[in-house]
Amino acid sequence: MTAVGASTELAVQITGGVPLCGRVAIQGSKNTALSLYAAAFAMNAAVTLTKAPAVADTAAVIRIATGLGVPAGFNAGVFQFPAAELTSGELDPLIASRIRLSISIAAAVLARRGTVSFPLPGGDGFCERPIDRHLAAMCAAGATLRETGGQLVATLPRGRPQAFDFSALTPYGPSLGATLSALLLAAHADGISVLRHPSPEPEITHVCRFLRAAGVAIRMGPRGTLLVAGTRRMAEVTYCVPADRMEAGTLAIAAAVTGGAIALDGISVDQLPAGFREFLGVSGIRLADTGNALTVSGVASGPGQTIVTGPHPAFPTDLQPPATVLLARLRGRSRIVERVFPRRTSHLRGLAEFGVRSSETGHAAEVAGDTRLTGADVVGTDIRCAVAYVLAALAADGDSTVAGAYHLGRGHEDLPGKLRALGARIR
Ligand code: EPU
Repeated sequence: MTAVGASTELAVQITGGVPLCGRVAIQGSKNTALSLYAAAFAMNAAVTLTKAPAVADTAAVIRIATGLGVPAGFNAGVFQFPAAELTSGELDPLIASRIRLSISIAAAVLARRGTVSFPLPGGDGFCERPIDRHLAAMCAAGATLRETGGQLVATLPRGRPQAFDFSALTPYGPSLGATLSALLLAAHADGISVLRHPSPEPEITHVCRFLRAAGVAIRMGPRGTLLVAGTRRMAEVTYCVPADRMEAGTLAIAAAVTGGAIALDGISVDQLPAGFREFLGVSGIRLADTGNALTVSGVASGPGQTIVTGPHPAFPTDLQPPATVLLARLRGRSRIVERVFPRRTSHLRGLAEFGVRSSETGHAAEVAGDTRLTGADVVGTDIRCAVAYVLAALAADGDSTVAGAYHLGRGHEDLPGKLRALGARIR
């Protein structure tokens, strides 16, 4: 597993132009595993997660757990979080400030200990990412907040959360992370909490299933609200992390932009968001379920199109940077409208080095089609940006170097290895 703080100097070298062919297995979902890791911190019984991905944040989470007195471990896809007292309520500032998930881990620790100290969270910095709804969830549960020595300290005067009424809605739609934080607080509250505008992402569906298995009663209320009855006694849970729809989408685009045909083990067509399936269909790419695999075939050849990112099952924001490479291969001009984040265009500058022509206005970007890509040397600055560069390099004529490859290991167990198994010339 990539170590936390691993060198940002790592680079991959790619000779493009090889159609990808063959079969690879899809890893467990990075974002679902992360949400379940945060949920594990809220548990006073043991947790075992199978098919957990060996991504960099898994190591970071284990270090945070160890610092709080829980000997969590990860081996061969199994994440174990034993039942243990949290002997500290202070998240390691160095590690926690590097990952976005730390704010939801803080909510879980607050729920269990009645107090927590944590830094501002890090994570991919493609735009400003506020945490106001996470803090609002803590306050709704009764916490007071103060800042001391650069750390935030949240304290519940009664030592445990009170039942609360909370909305996860932000100006950009429901927040996945804030829904998660609120769920973990509500799981410990006396009484029934009401969560309005919860995120519809599959991550939240899985966390609800996980918490139900632990004994937390969660049901749907009117107008899509979640009603959560907290509990003091939780049961041990073993849960299998579902397949990573973002990795499957990334590899599907890799096949499409190289004109290949691949099979992805362990995932089915219906697990890909409908907005993304539609995008591939219009682009001329065929998806099918064949046995236990999802097959992807066809050459990117459709007309230019508009993609609008949004909450599940709309087109996912995390596949927007990789999809830009495919848009550049279509016939005619395309438009990208980013609705989940105020801005997600960190990849456009580097893609220009490969010959992708784009222009930005506000939340939208236009991408010219009919583009022949040529090899380039670029530096990835976040997970999906680095992935987009790798896909451009696979589709390009000639040699490319993608530095900042450390980011690939934050989203994927071994993306270069999987691409190599599909025939890519990647070192
Ligand atoms: N927002 C606020 N206030 C908050 C929280 C969020 O205004 O307190 C805004 C954000 O700025 C954004 C919108 O709400 O505009 C949605 O953000 P959300 O909270 O849903 O995102 P997140 O929980 O921080 C997770 C994933 C992201 C993924 C988004 C959207 C993890 C660890 N991260 O982030 O994944 O893009 O949901 O689905 O689960 C990635 O994998 O590359 C990645 C960035």
